[in-house]
Amino acid sequence: MDDLTLAIRPPAEARYAAELARLAADDAAPKPAGWHLSPRAVRRFLLGDPKVGVTRKFYGDDPLVDRAIVSLMSQQGLMLVGEPGTAKSLLSELLAAAISGTSGLVVQGSAGTTEDHIRYGWNYALLLAEGPSERALVPSPVLNAMRSGRIVRFEEITRCPPEVQDALISVLSEKSLALPELGPDAVASAAPGFNVIATANLRDRGVHEMSSALKRRFNFETVHPINDPEFERELVLKQLAERLGTAGVSVTGERDVAEVLVRTFQDLRTGRTAEGTSLNRPDAVMSTAEAVNVLHAAALEAVYLDNGKLSAAHVARQLQGVVLKDSPEDGKRLRAYVDHIVKERAGRSGAWKDFYQAARALKLG
Ligand SMILES: Nc1ncnc2c1ncn2[C@@H]1O[C@H](COP(=O)(O)OP(=O)(O)OP(=O)(O)O)[C@@H](O)[C@H]1O
Ligand SMILES: [Mg+2]
Repeated sequence: MDDLTLAIRPPAEARYAAELARLAADDAAPKPAGWHLSPRAVRRFLLGDPKVGVTRKFYGDDPLVDRAIVSLMSQQGLMLVGEPGTAKSLLSELLAAAISGTSGLVVQGSAGTTEDHIRYGWNYALLLAEGPSERALVPSPVLNAMRSGRIVRFEEITRCPPEVQDALISVLSEKSLALPELGPDAVASAAPGFNVIATANLRDRGVHEMSSALKRRFNFETVHPINDPEFERELVLKQLAERLGTAGVSVTGERDVAEVLVRTFQDLRTGRTAEGTSLNRPDAVMSTAEAVNVLHAAALEAVYLDNGKLSAAHVARQLQGVVLKDSPEDGKRLRAYVDHIVKERAGRSGAWKDFYQAARALKLG
């Protein structure tokens, strides 16, 4: 086996192995059958518990986390929908890691997803040599999860053709999967602990493409962007520290810069500044995930190409890669934001001034 902790991005159960072990050791609350941790411990894993050194991982909507945990104990699957970059995948990964001990049972939805990815396929060499047998059967992550009583994640489910999605209906309602090739009565039954967390992006093909039969088998939760700037700033700083920590480097000056970054993202995302001025919102997704990426890239520039002091000028230079993605109009919208809003703030602090000067020099189309 590869050492997962050395991967660029180890899975949640490896990243947070020490926290999960502490929570398990301290977990006397009742557990549903098949769960590695109690629902209370799962909640502490996601929302943090400083008493046992567990960090907060999901920000912004604590009741949503409770509802998600309850869904996963029930007969229903859990469907996380929302704008891109609102941590739907992160939430599903954290929940699966805490509940099942692994977040690795995943079906990645795409136009090329087939029923085999949801049910099972065959090792054709063995199938031809021996005929259909348990040995020749190649289980999907869904079948593996059913047999082992774990959570399977279905990423971007609405990107699959609806008839393929519908293979999940019987899995969710009967909690079993017929294996007719292995015999008329052959069936795989889900062990306790099995459930499905699906994610769907509202900017992609959209949730309306799902059959209503399948929709009824899921509880839907909408994950919204973080609207509290304090929370968002805390999150981006924490994620920056994590990412730089993995690389063994650090920067200075990041707090003031994060303030400028988060304010800019919130203004452009909502189309309204903190002072109450309306502005033209870019089509580009100004998500928290993008904000983290921008701050990380800015910090890399500061560390490797500059003197290690992060400046809002680094952020300004990274911003165009996020904003100039969807439509040429977005460049003009960003320009207007810089020329009016940022200019006015430039007198307020050194960070806003650095941001303004660097942003004015950008070629925004
Ligand atoms: N509320 C939040 N709590 C914690 N992290 C967040 C939050 N919102 C955004 N993030 C950041 O966004 C990153 C990636 O989000 P993720 O990939 O899970 O989003 P997504 O909703 O699945 O996006 P997509 O629709 O593009 O697949 C997280 O790793 C984290 O850095
Ligand atoms: Mg995702």
